[in-house]
Amino acid sequence: AGTLREAAEAEGVFIGSAIADHRLSDSRYNAIASTEFNSVTAENVMKWESIQPSRGSFNFAGGDRLVDFAEQNDQQVWGHTLVWHSQLPDWVENGGFDAAELTAITDEHITTVMDHYEGDIAYWDVVNEAFNEDGTFRQSVFQQTIGEEYIANAFRTAAQADPGAKLCINDYNIEGVNAKSNGMYNLVRDLLAAGVQVDCVGFQSHLILDSIPGDIRTNLQRFADLGVEVVVTELDIRIPMPADSAELQRQGDQFESVVSSCLAVDGCAGVTVWGFGDADSWVPDVFEGQGAACLYDENYQPKPAYDGVLAGLGGE
Ligand code: G3I
Repeated sequence: AGTLREAAEAEGVFIGSAIADHRLSDSRYNAIASTEFNSVTAENVMKWESIQPSRGSFNFAGGDRLVDFAEQNDQQVWGHTLVWHSQLPDWVENGGFDAAELTAITDEHITTVMDHYEGDIAYWDVVNEAFNEDGTFRQSVFQQTIGEEYIANAFRTAAQADPGAKLCINDYNIEGVNAKSNGMYNLVRDLLAAGVQVDCVGFQSHLILDSIPGDIRTNLQRFADLGVEVVVTELDIRIPMPADSAELQRQGDQFESVVSSCLAVDGCAGVTVWGFGDADSWVPDVFEGQGAACLYDENYQPKPAYDGVLAGLGGE
């Protein structure tokens, strides 16, 4: 059987993974990361707290390592993420800035980071997780201080900083049609109508076994009909632990269904999984008693989930 990457390339889409910087030194991890994927996303090292931990002091070391890794392996890099309420350093979150100051700080962050990586990054998550579950705007420090125009402002600044990068907005629990995805839909429609460059919408897809929305294709299609690319950006499917073999089989089928739902949409650019090995997944740290959410088990052996993604990409 071929690799995920070969199957994706044959379909003209990308297959990506989040990459944990500190795991690249493990040879098994590194081998899978370099051969199975043609796109990589920084799991943490391009977030604000990593890249500008204190005001005006930028640390690009981790991001540069990922860019070098991708170049060696002929992979695209997905930049994650510029404006997000989480993993935001305290000096921004609790700085007590007014709207003009916070806008200037955000513009400087976006411009400095995008300039540094200009030409290296295919897609940027410009704004991440702007919504509440009911489709209203999350009361982040950006929303509270600047108001919802922080979003349009971030995209305008990003478009100037790196005109070659595709600019995305990304969120979770927007995979099916629901109040939150309606909020996202209305925002993207309005931004486009206002002439703001938005190239893509990222559907994180942190999903739960046996609870995959049945209308992913329909939902992604309505976004594609707005003229933006749609991408599954952080796919994983978590299971109550311990997972039995029947559950792992169903998980494989559900991975296949999510991937094929995206590929069925004209305008689906690709799919990224949020880490490929259960040993490295964020899930057990956040959802107690859940795990096994990835394509490979704790020993980097492929699971039915791997075969599901391969099948979803049209491979075998
Ligand atoms: O870097 C420190 C390390 O020095 C320390 O020893 C260790 C002890 O806990 O913590 C390390 O920081 C952790 C960091 O990951 C790097 O490993 C943080 O505690 C931990 O909270 C952080 O979690 C990340 C999480 O975002 C934070 O929100 C996960 O790795 C990452 O997978 C996760 O990714 C997010 C996406 O960015 C956005 N969408 C949801 C997704 C899952 O939460």
